[in-house]
Amino acid sequence: MGERNLDFDTVQNRKGTDSLKYDFAAARGYSEEALPLWVADMDFKISSYIQDALQAQVQHGIYGYTETAGDYYDAVAGWMKRHHEWNIDGYKIIKTPGVVPAIGAAINAFTEKGDAVLIQQPVYYCFTEVIEFAGRRVVSNDLILEKQGSGEYGNEKHDDKENDGLQDNRCEDEFGSGRYTIDLKDFEKKIIDEKIKLFLLCNPHNPGGRVWTIEELRSIAEICKKHNVVVFSDEIHEDIVYSGKKHTVFATVSEEAEEITLTATSPGKTFNISGLQIGNIIIKNRELAKRFKKSVNGNMGYSQANAPGIAACRAAYNHGDEWYEAMLKYLESNLQYLIGFLKEELPEVRLIIPDATYLVFLDLRGLGLTNEERRKLIVDKAKLWLDSGEIFGALGRGFERINIACPKSILKEALERLRDAVKSRV
Ligand SMILES: Cc1ncc(COP(=O)(O)O)c(C=O)c1O
Repeated sequence: MGERNLDFDTVQNRKGTDSLKYDFAAARGYSEEALPLWVADMDFKISSYIQDALQAQVQHGIYGYTETAGDYYDAVAGWMKRHHEWNIDGYKIIKTPGVVPAIGAAINAFTEKGDAVLIQQPVYYCFTEVIEFAGRRVVSNDLILEKQGSGEYGNEKHDDKENDGLQDNRCEDEFGSGRYTIDLKDFEKKIIDEKIKLFLLCNPHNPGGRVWTIEELRSIAEICKKHNVVVFSDEIHEDIVYSGKKHTVFATVSEEAEEITLTATSPGKTFNISGLQIGNIIIKNRELAKRFKKSVNGNMGYSQANAPGIAACRAAYNHGDEWYEAMLKYLESNLQYLIGFLKEELPEVRLIIPDATYLVFLDLRGLGLTNEERRKLIVDKAKLWLDSGEIFGALGRGFERINIACPKSILKEALERLRDAVKSRV
């Protein structure tokens, strides 16, 4: 019959659907008029193939304990092969109720209370929350915001009243604010000094939007293998990659990488089914898989997989390609629109141009505002609900993360609100 849900322009009314993004503004300190472009889901209807698979379950009317067989494995393997040139024959797939619970299970499996866990800030804030909640310590190999093209760091100083200690790398020759890179010396030093056993890699990176190069990933693998560090590679954003860029599955860069890695994947972001909570953690090393599975069982009480999540994942990976390609094209045009708008109408605000993800780090450091002033500008004046950069770590201060997975009319409205608020500042 073909894919039916290829309209990404229509504004869907998500209010009154228990939507975290739309229905909890007041409870979270925002006005009801605030336009929400924060939490990482999309305002698009899902693939009709997924809808039909869920419909069939509803029709059947039974939601007992659920397990997967070979056809599920084949669906996941097929997607990985088609889209990431990754052959997962011989790998285990361990299902979890999403990627964040899997992070918790990995922390419990591979570290002890009081141990340090390595991350690279600014990074998805749940990494920090889950580590701290588990009674472990966060150690960050901070990313470096590098001036584009030159390999040098920008050094133009701005009058940011809270700018002490901030990296300020805006460059004048390129519109983008730069790109994050890894300080590998510091990476290895932290591993040694802090006796790191587990590293959480965000690949592609949220909120920096980087796809890491094969060379970067190989260096990470080499260092981690040398010091017996297990790598949890969170690849939930692996499919949202823009033209000319390529995501590399960390486990594929070398045999060393394959041996030490748990790759966390999910159709959640790609197909807008995060509410169905399905994570597929793909592991080659049997010993790591065994320890991780034991921890999953212990942490999640031997619960079986989420029935609608399984049906949705299988339908998405088997039949979702057309929807996915069209959605990605739409996101790409939203990204181009965002860049064009800032250049022409709001050059005071820059951005880190992402290789991947529909989450874009807007750079407001040039406005020279304190945190409080920036919050007032975004929340009270522009009436926008974004994710403030500092929740990703101190290096995110001065940035705001915007989610562009929405109809263009909503993005336009949001950018106009931001422009008007910035222009009316003086
Ligand atoms: C890097 C990253 N990992 C994990 C998640 C959440 O995963 P899940 O909903 O499957 O727990 C997100 C959501 O934004 C994310 O950006």
